[in-house]
Amino acid sequence: MNTAQHAAPTAPMPRLRTLPRTLRTPERIVLTGFMGSGKSTVGPLLAAQLGWTFIDLDSEIERRTGLTVAQIFAEKGEAAFRKEETAALATALGCTHAVIALGGGAPETLANRLLLEQTPATAVVYLAAPFATLAQRCAVQDAQDAQAASPGTILRPNFADPIAAESSFAARQPLYRRLAHIILETGTLTPEGSVAAVLAALAAKAPRA
Ligand code: S3P
Repeated sequence: MNTAQHAAPTAPMPRLRTLPRTLRTPERIVLTGFMGSGKSTVGPLLAAQLGWTFIDLDSEIERRTGLTVAQIFAEKGEAAFRKEETAALATALGCTHAVIALGGGAPETLANRLLLEQTPATAVVYLAAPFATLAQRCAVQDAQDAQAASPGTILRPNFADPIAAESSFAARQPLYRRLAHIILETGTLTPEGSVAAVLAALAAKAPRA
């Protein structure tokens, strides 16, 4: 969620892994990153640019279960949420010409990592940003969303405790990085800048070793 992203005069170049040839023309693009990294903001813009479908995995889970993410956490627990997440991811990866935004915790589940690694023609993009930036974006967005929710609703259960969130951020970073074909530092990018950088990275002929 990138409501707090702001324009920067110079955009840092994305860091690339060597892309397998098929990934230069991927059939789907998966956006990963911690809460607040902009997946749900950048994703629809990227999909629109490509003329592709946008799939937000959290929204898919909510549609499939008839519950909000916060309700699933509160009523069934995180483990039940993770099972739904894996089922939704498996379905989403069956789609072509789709941009798929994962929830921030999805790469922690081994089954999800295997699905991502083993689904051909799937480009994984990590939207990276410093923890302080992510926390600020989440605070801004949750304050906006809280207007529409009932009082006291915790919109991001795994950001309710900032200290726990920061240690989860540290633990997840290596997973995000390892899974990613493209690592984009979004801290100073606008959502539109992130889209342009992802497209440029995918088009690049000489990726970083
Ligand atoms: C979570 C991130 C959320 C959502 C759930 C758990 C996490 O998605 O899947 O609240 O553990 O990081 P966003 O990253 O889209 O906020």
